Amino acid sequence: MLPIPQVVLPDGAAVPALGLGTWMMGEQRRRAGDEAAALAHGLDRGMTLIDTAEMYGDGGAEEVVARAIAGRRDEVFLVSKVYPHNAGRGSAIAACERSLQRLRTDRLDLYLLHWRGSVPLAETVAAFEALRRDGKIARWGVSNFDAGDLAELWALPEGRHCATNQVLYHLGERGIEWALLPWMRARRMPLMAYSPLGQGALLRRKELATVASRIGATPAQVALAWLLRQRDLMVIPKAADPAHVAANRAACDLALDAAALAALDDAFPPPSGASALAML
Ligand SMILES: NC(=O)c1ccc[n+]([C@@H]2O[C@H](COP(=O)([O-])OP(=O)(O)OC[C@H]3O[C@@H](n4cnc5c(N)ncnc54)[C@H](OP(=O)(O)O)[C@@H]3O)[C@@H](O)[C@H]2O)c1
Repeated sequence: MLPIPQVVLPDGAAVPALGLGTWMMGEQRRRAGDEAAALAHGLDRGMTLIDTAEMYGDGGAEEVVARAIAGRRDEVFLVSKVYPHNAGRGSAIAACERSLQRLRTDRLDLYLLHWRGSVPLAETVAAFEALRRDGKIARWGVSNFDAGDLAELWALPEGRHCATNQVLYHLGERGIEWALLPWMRARRMPLMAYSPLGQGALLRRKELATVASRIGATPAQVALAWLLRQRDLMVIPKAADPAHVAANRAACDLALDAAALAALDDAFPPPSGASALAML
């Protein structure tokens, strides 16, 4: 098995390009043990980037993550997100402290604004910087920001400390290739791709199955390998089934050749113009 490639953040921290999502986890108490085991299975395979949020399972997903990382916190690059309505100067600090309690840790490696709301960006950045100075977060970033939002953020005094922007990106949703991805690349800000399997729907597309069977891989592996071949992306598939976790990890061993890439471009064409940022 090849090692998982790493992505280097603007402050020099190296993060595995393939991690673990947690949306829909922590919603049912009886499933929490299995969900934590699936995450631990991923950690054992080097998928040590875990993405969660105060929103997921109303805090339940963070509690599942706490179970998965118990006794191995130092192995993990831990990401959580604050609701826009909690992103004010004092409320973001309080929300982060609640997340830390649920996660049973004293620090996050990355704290994201989940999407842009009505709180002025400068206020959220001030809260994030205060959390960083206090050691409660190592760095911060945003999610669901289009190029215009990022440009506004970038113009703030400490806006350039933004480590990443987590957005919807997969074969069937390539709109960000038009403006957002080039904007971020020009500033060396790596992107975190969410719903890389299109929440499972992408995997049912016949064109993807055709390419996958031609090269002896699964649709999920092709979808992930297509993202991972771009060296500056972090990719966070969610899998509660340990067999899915193992299959996703194997995507790092899959190199797509020119014929496969051309077939994928044919079936899932890149954007031909500007469009609003797609989000879930
Ligand atoms: N910032 C945001 O606004 C935002 C929005 C959406 C998502 N996210 C983050 O991104 C993560 C991933 O996105 P997502 O959860 O929306 O969707 P996703 O990762 O694209 O798809 C998850 C679905 O795919 C299935 N799956 C996983 N691996 C598979 C495999 N190898 N073969 C077949 N099916 C497979 C999972 O099933 P099982 O669970 O049964 O294994 C689950 O039903 C989230 O969990 C969350 O952490 C962030």
